[in-house]
Amino acid sequence: MKGIILAGGTGSRLWPITHATSKQLLPVWDKPMVFYPLSTLMLAGIRDILIITAKGQVDAFVGLLGDGKQFGINLSYVEQDAPNGIAEALLIGREFLNGGPCALILGDNLFHGDNLGDRLRGAAKRHTGATVFVHAVRDPERYGVMAFDPDGLPLDIIEKPSNPPSNLAVTGLYFFDATAPDRVADLQPSIRGELEITDLNRSYLEDRKLTVEMLGRGCAWLDTGTPASLLQAAQFVYSVEERQGLKIGSPEETAWRLGWIDRDALTRSAGFSAASDYGRYLNDMANSSEFLTVSALSGVPTLEMSVPSDPTGMVFNAQSQEITRRTGHD
Ligand code: TTP
Repeated sequence: MKGIILAGGTGSRLWPITHATSKQLLPVWDKPMVFYPLSTLMLAGIRDILIITAKGQVDAFVGLLGDGKQFGINLSYVEQDAPNGIAEALLIGREFLNGGPCALILGDNLFHGDNLGDRLRGAAKRHTGATVFVHAVRDPERYGVMAFDPDGLPLDIIEKPSNPPSNLAVTGLYFFDATAPDRVADLQPSIRGELEITDLNRSYLEDRKLTVEMLGRGCAWLDTGTPASLLQAAQFVYSVEERQGLKIGSPEETAWRLGWIDRDALTRSAGFSAASDYGRYLNDMANSSEFLTVSALSGVPTLEMSVPSDPTGMVFNAQSQEITRRTGHD
């Protein structure tokens, strides 16, 4: 499956910060915002990714991310002429998708939670219909909100309702089958002149081809479109990273743990950021004999050790205890 990151827009709620730069290049604590949705797509197992930027902003993204080889993936780029709506991503990406299914993620959305990778890989396996993820929010009137019938089945999606039918907002991560570009081509722009993602999701819902997955309270979904939400997202990432000593949203780490890059590539990436905590984190990972991979068993990480010349097994045991302590898995 291929992926699209929609990282254009005007970022008007962040002006003047976004007058001369893309919102998605702003920092969320210790890394650029786009690292988070990129890592999320990678966690879904997606290695071929198109980044859609606003006009004139491709070069800055290429400067940051290049062709993606350092993450073991392929990145390509294209500009959106004007912010004509989220669903337009499927038209802009039509050639890139080449008749296949895709995952679309908004460049200012941050997802974090246990088991997220499994959930995403599960959605990526469905090749017909669409999958959306809903999450409880305190202010549903700001989002596309899911309405359910008395049996709990999805009934409608209502964009920014003044009287929300539930507190479950549709998040900015969608999995679409190969019909999505044709469906968007049939949509009319809304009153605000945009091709609405809600209308695309509704077309799947009307055909009974929409899967709605709930992200529970153990999962965090943050967007970063206003000064307050940008600060909250940074504080969230800061708090979790400081507490755990593990980073959120590092594409290098994701690639390493998925086995998409080797130790040399990780060391090289660490070298580019050698003076920062981020670079030291990557370097420590590259020098560690611990290798934590995603296992084929749902929710069960596999710990693999590489311990050279340890005939007694003492180093293995010591490391095993240390990893058990750090990860909570035994
Ligand atoms: P929004 O936050 O809805 O729009 P925006 O980023 O332009 O910000 P503002 O409302 O403050 O002006 O967009 C959500 C995400 O989708 C964001 O990452 C930008 C992206 N986007 C595009 O790339 N193109 C578009 O046409 C639209 C509507 C959004």
